[in-house]
Amino acid sequence: MRRVHPRSYNQRGHGAAPGPYWWAMVVSSASRLYNSGWQPATRNCHPWTDLRDTPRRHDQHMIEVCELTKQYGKKRAVNNLSFTVHPGQVTGFLGPNGAGKTTTLRIILGLHRATSGQATIGGRAYRDLPRGLRHVGALIDAGDVHGGRTAEAHLRALARSNAIPRSRVNDVLDIVGLGQAAGRRIGGYSLGMRQRLGIATALLGDPPVLLFDEPLNGLDPEGVLWVRGLFQRLAAEGRTVLVSSHLMSEMELTATHLIVVGRGELLAAESVDEFAARGAGRRVTVRTPDNARLTSLLSAEGASVETAEGASVETAGASFTVTGLGADRIAEIAFAHRIMLYELAEHPATLEEAFMELTSGSVEYQAGGDR
Ligand SMILES: Nc1ncnc2c1ncn2[C@@H]1O[C@H](COP(=O)(O)OP(=O)(O)OP(=O)(O)O)[C@@H](O)[C@H]1O
Ligand SMILES: [Mg+2]
Repeated sequence: MRRVHPRSYNQRGHGAAPGPYWWAMVVSSASRLYNSGWQPATRNCHPWTDLRDTPRRHDQHMIEVCELTKQYGKKRAVNNLSFTVHPGQVTGFLGPNGAGKTTTLRIILGLHRATSGQATIGGRAYRDLPRGLRHVGALIDAGDVHGGRTAEAHLRALARSNAIPRSRVNDVLDIVGLGQAAGRRIGGYSLGMRQRLGIATALLGDPPVLLFDEPLNGLDPEGVLWVRGLFQRLAAEGRTVLVSSHLMSEMELTATHLIVVGRGELLAAESVDEFAARGAGRRVTVRTPDNARLTSLLSAEGASVETAEGASVETAGASFTVTGLGADRIAEIAFAHRIMLYELAEHPATLEEAFMELTSGSVEYQAGGDR
């Protein structure tokens, strides 16, 4: 008679329980396949790639978006997007309006289904994570709460359904500065107070992975400073912190790493320092009494020269801006041709300028200008 293992495959009708020989075969075939260098087709973003490394604990908290596409009817909101978000740092998720940020975050959180590709947290889809708010905390839409409830009741209900101790509710209300307003109905909250409540909700389960969609919207300057400090602290504690925004000025002081998207596609994924080094567009302001000669020498070296609106490059003494050559090289050229310089000042491109330049071809919704 065949022996039935209490929790084996054969209970579900898959045949005999796998014995030690079967497992040995599986392990040896898998290791032969692995040692032969075989990798799955989606090598760069599939969790299998981590098999070569000693598994690191913090990889459980890595967000991986792999060849993700989301189609809404004729609109492709996200197009073959791949990136990784690591723990221990604040990662800014940047892009112009309509770039696909919210859609991507919603897919990571299992709120939308991807058309193709996948988004995982620690190698697993959100819906397969067992501990809900204790594993991932998120602020997606601060307005998406029952206005008739008090903040305290709202958080208590969430704590109960996620097996989070009741005492944590007051802790997070204090962290976000809503302790005094905890007993007021959410319907009477200002936009900034709702954002704070959304952040409290994300923090409720003390999760290792946190996602925030435009969290700085509606916060006053003190709130913005506080939130920046909070994100940095959460990252310093080893958590994965992904924060979306459409403004580089917001992320410049908040994030250390950036993922930039435009029209649903990846434009850049790098550290803020690397992004700043894109400063190919650094400008140099030059003033000389011999404009005509210097500008033609600079143009011959491949630089582009621009004057202030209304001024001509030929106007002696009028300052002009040079891109494509550094201040040192301009000084060398001027010195070699005995041209006097009154002013020579280099301006590194700001992150905002680098961002505008990178996304200029991907801005979908543009204002029509002054009216
Ligand atoms: N449910 C939907 N049905 C149809 N189109 C949608 C839907 N949700 C988003 N879109 C479209 O997908 C694109 C990406 O939208 P998404 O909200 O992800 O952009 P975003 O980067 O978050 O923009 P913003 O900075 O304005 O918040 C937009 O063109 C939007 O109109
Ligand atoms: Mg959005």
